[in-house]
Amino acid sequence: MNVRPAGPADVEAIAGLETEAFPEDAWTPDYLQVAIEGKMPTVSILVADDGDGVVVGHALVSVVYEIAELQRIATAAAHRRRGIARALLDAGLELARVAGAERLLLEVREDNLGALAFYDGAEFAEIDRRERYYRDGATAVVMQRELAGS
Ligand SMILES: CC(C)(COP(=O)(O)OP(=O)(O)OC[C@H]1O[C@@H](n2cnc3c(N)ncnc32)[C@H](O)[C@@H]1OP(=O)(O)O)[C@@H](O)C(=O)NCCC(=O)NCCS
Repeated sequence: MNVRPAGPADVEAIAGLETEAFPEDAWTPDYLQVAIEGKMPTVSILVADDGDGVVVGHALVSVVYEIAELQRIATAAAHRRRGIARALLDAGLELARVAGAERLLLEVREDNLGALAFYDGAEFAEIDRRERYYRDGATAVVMQRELAGS
């Protein structure tokens, strides 16, 4: 498995992962294309490929001055619990650090227990809650990890 910046050839695969992981608000191929072409200067998309060129996970990090945000992270359902999201997160943390960010923030649904366990294990700490943050009324847990060495 290999984590690398997404390229134009990855748009379809990422869009498929989006639909699988976030059926309610998947990003469209058009939006992904614009981001991957570098037309959103604060946004970086990373992909994990399985070594044979098959994309099995993706993450999107945006960095604005000292604040980085993990806007998306997902692993294909058939490939979970193999360290793929952890590798994507590590690459995202490094990218954010290099870009000068001091902390990485994210929002996660309070009922997404798998993701909460993942972030707990990755040393994120809850810093806030936002009620009715999601369209269906679910609460968001806001989490943060300090970026050492930044
Ligand atoms: C959350 C998600 C990204 C984790 O991806 P993954 O590739 O399976 O994660 P990893 O294999 O790197 O997990 C690393 C560690 O996190 C924890 N973890 C990950 N998923 C977990 C789960 N479902 N339940 C409990 N712990 C979990 C475990 O400690 C795991 O280590 P272990 O497998 O050795 O026990 C994945 O479940 C996913 O894509 N979910 C749908 C999209 C989503 O909810 N994204 C987050 C939105 S905020």
